[in-house]
Amino acid sequence: MSNVVSTNLAGVQGAGTGLRRAMMRSLEENPDVAIDFLEVAPDNWITLGGSLGRRFKAFTERYDFVTHGLSLSLGSPDPLDEAFVKQVKQFLDAHGIQCYSEHLSYCGESGHMYDLLPIPFTSDAVKYVAERIRRVQDIIERPLAIENVSYYAAPGKEMDEIAFFNAVVAEADCHILLDVNNVYVNSINHGYDPRAFIAQVPAERIAYIHVAGHTEVAPDLIVDTHGNDVIDPVWSLLEYTYETVGVLPTLLERDFNIPALSDQLAEVNKIRSIQRDALRGDATNDPLLNGNQESNNVIASSRSSSGASANG
Ligand SMILES: [Fe+2]
Repeated sequence: MSNVVSTNLAGVQGAGTGLRRAMMRSLEENPDVAIDFLEVAPDNWITLGGSLGRRFKAFTERYDFVTHGLSLSLGSPDPLDEAFVKQVKQFLDAHGIQCYSEHLSYCGESGHMYDLLPIPFTSDAVKYVAERIRRVQDIIERPLAIENVSYYAAPGKEMDEIAFFNAVVAEADCHILLDVNNVYVNSINHGYDPRAFIAQVPAERIAYIHVAGHTEVAPDLIVDTHGNDVIDPVWSLLEYTYETVGVLPTLLERDFNIPALSDQLAEVNKIRSIQRDALRGDATNDPLLNGNQESNNVIASSRSSSGASANG
């Protein structure tokens, strides 16, 4: 797989999940749980103080973190909330967090509504959004990772989703958060090949990957709810993603219908096992890797740079 690119753009590795306040007690009481990294929405955590703030600080000392924003509203006609972006930068710096990701979407008019609306797939929108991403990157003094979102209508479309996504990323010179479930959801709802989409994503820009569950409304309509277990076709697409872009740090999203922590951790472990199998496949398929010292070095380097857990 000489075409595989492995990066460590997010400053994390292995398999992770989102940190919710309701999980904190369980994680504090079980310090040996197998989570390689955690994700938080800075929107919800930047203003925390007091005992909750101290508990969060302890988490950042124990785990690697990425941040995944909710309210930057990159496609909004409203001015960029630069005061908020400056707060995010302080939060990233204070906790030693490298990666800030956001949705390639907008949140409706005025205010942080958290409902994500699609940006029209047009060349004007490419320029508009890329300029806003560049401004965010100037303020936070690090790349922003842009997530491909699920969408249910594409008004005014001048180009395909992948052409729009790649044009924004190139114009903004930013990183990517590749949501494999969103690719799957969109491929069903809009009738395209999810593997062809993933094969066109510039691998060298991918900071990390999301997987999640969704809800099937009809055979040709599924909704990205983050409220169910990940289904087998999405796990298969994750395997394909690793084969295509390399084994990158991957995070399980679960925001609704939350299961017991042990069930959630079983899905995190499933990510880790797919990562391990993909790395093994790499080793088996590479003619250099025949159990000699050179092969061991390559595996070690692949593990440290690709994001797979060294002990998972
Ligand atoms: Fe996502």
